[in-house]
Amino acid sequence: MSTIPKTCDPLNVLIIGGGMITHDLILPSVWHLQRTGRAGKITVCALNSAPLRALKESAELQQAFPGREFEASPALSEPPDRMFPALYKELLARRAPRQAVVVAVPDQFHYEVVKEALGRDQHVLCVKPLVLKYDHAHEIEQLARERGLFVGVEYHKRFDRRSLMAKRGYALGHFGEFAMGEAKLIEPYYYRHSNFQNWFTCDKTDPFVYIGCHYVDLVYFITGLKPVALSVSGVKGRFPNGNEGYLWSNGRVRYENGALLSVTDGLGYPDLAAGSNDQGLLMYCEGKNVNGMIEHRDNDRGVRYSYLEGIGCGGSHYNYVSPDFYRLVPWEGPGFKPVGYGYESVAANLEAMARIETETAGLSEKDALVRRRELIAGIDRQGLLATPANSFINELVVEAARLSIIADGVWVDIRYEPKPHVALRQIR
Ligand SMILES: NC(=O)c1ccc[n+]([C@@H]2O[C@H](COP(=O)([O-])OP(=O)(O)OC[C@H]3O[C@@H](n4cnc5c(N)ncnc54)[C@H](O)[C@@H]3O)[C@@H](O)[C@H]2O)c1
Repeated sequence: MSTIPKTCDPLNVLIIGGGMITHDLILPSVWHLQRTGRAGKITVCALNSAPLRALKESAELQQAFPGREFEASPALSEPPDRMFPALYKELLARRAPRQAVVVAVPDQFHYEVVKEALGRDQHVLCVKPLVLKYDHAHEIEQLARERGLFVGVEYHKRFDRRSLMAKRGYALGHFGEFAMGEAKLIEPYYYRHSNFQNWFTCDKTDPFVYIGCHYVDLVYFITGLKPVALSVSGVKGRFPNGNEGYLWSNGRVRYENGALLSVTDGLGYPDLAAGSNDQGLLMYCEGKNVNGMIEHRDNDRGVRYSYLEGIGCGGSHYNYVSPDFYRLVPWEGPGFKPVGYGYESVAANLEAMARIETETAGLSEKDALVRRRELIAGIDRQGLLATPANSFINELVVEAARLSIIADGVWVDIRYEPKPHVALRQIR
């Protein structure tokens, strides 16, 4: 009977997608894992060579990671406007089994890329949202379980210390039961000038789906309460290239205990304002003759810089700087290292894959599969890393939100019986 080798080299990492999130979080995190012995060879695949050249030539990344390389696919020698939409499939087909794949392409491609990666026996970390439909999340969960592969969803706000503190405190009964709350995340205006204008169109996505999902996931993470209905309305506008998108959204999510969360999102925080963006969460909770509250001011974490030049977010001089999500800071080694909950989330997901491989090294194929499934079920139950099994409420919410926003705010119910599904509410 064949066995898996006993020792495990660090997993090779294929990052599919070379855009903003790869530059701002994924690649630096994986490079740091590589130089500390926790990741192997790194390949980055994009639709064309242009974003890969931008990654290679990024002054910030060169300064922080001197001498670090990744294999670019397509090669930088390819003309920047030549597209390779299926190249990632060829790369996946050539990989050794159960290495790491990070999926960082636009939302609407996650489903096909994640499925392709699982079909090629790879562990997967996908940026949020995993997919846009519950059935797709369920299919991915089944496929991964069948093959004993880990799928993580990069909901990094779960790794923010304030979220972890709130989760613990809520479970210990320190706040009471969530009853009424509001969340907002308004991204900077300059996003409208980025590649977003090519894919952030009304028919594909909206601010609630794009960023509201972070706080919907967080309230579920903290309270364990399942959403049962929602209504999302949008405000449309034009991107600089003329494409129409929802630039603003407001949603109301109803939870299984009757609680309500209002969620406001947009691509429109003024570039010259100090916050970089505007975000936070406020939850009022009912106790016994006394109430509790959780408030997170996530855009202003107490650090303010005034730069000599306009090097702040969106070209601003004066900024509220968050030390908590992702920063490059001096460390004992060369260059700078990434710190913050963004880095910790990527690291925790890739380390989970490595742990699964290490703990099953040397077992027969059959025993290794059984053990990998057990380890993954343990991660699902623990509920810290977001997986298809423990975060599928997000796909239900996203699916319901798309139905609702397109119908201008009609309420959509989320039902869990006989199987999870969403349904437009009938108005009598
Ligand atoms: N806070 C967060 O969690 C966060 C923040 C930003 C983005 N994201 C998510 O990351 C994903 C990407 O966002 P972004 O801002 O980096 O977008 P982007 O438009 O900057 O980059 C998308 C990248 O995908 C690549 N791509 C598209 N089709 C491809 C294909 N067939 N093969 C290979 N590469 C392909 C493009 O070349 C591009 O490099 C989205 O799902 C988004 O929701 C999450």
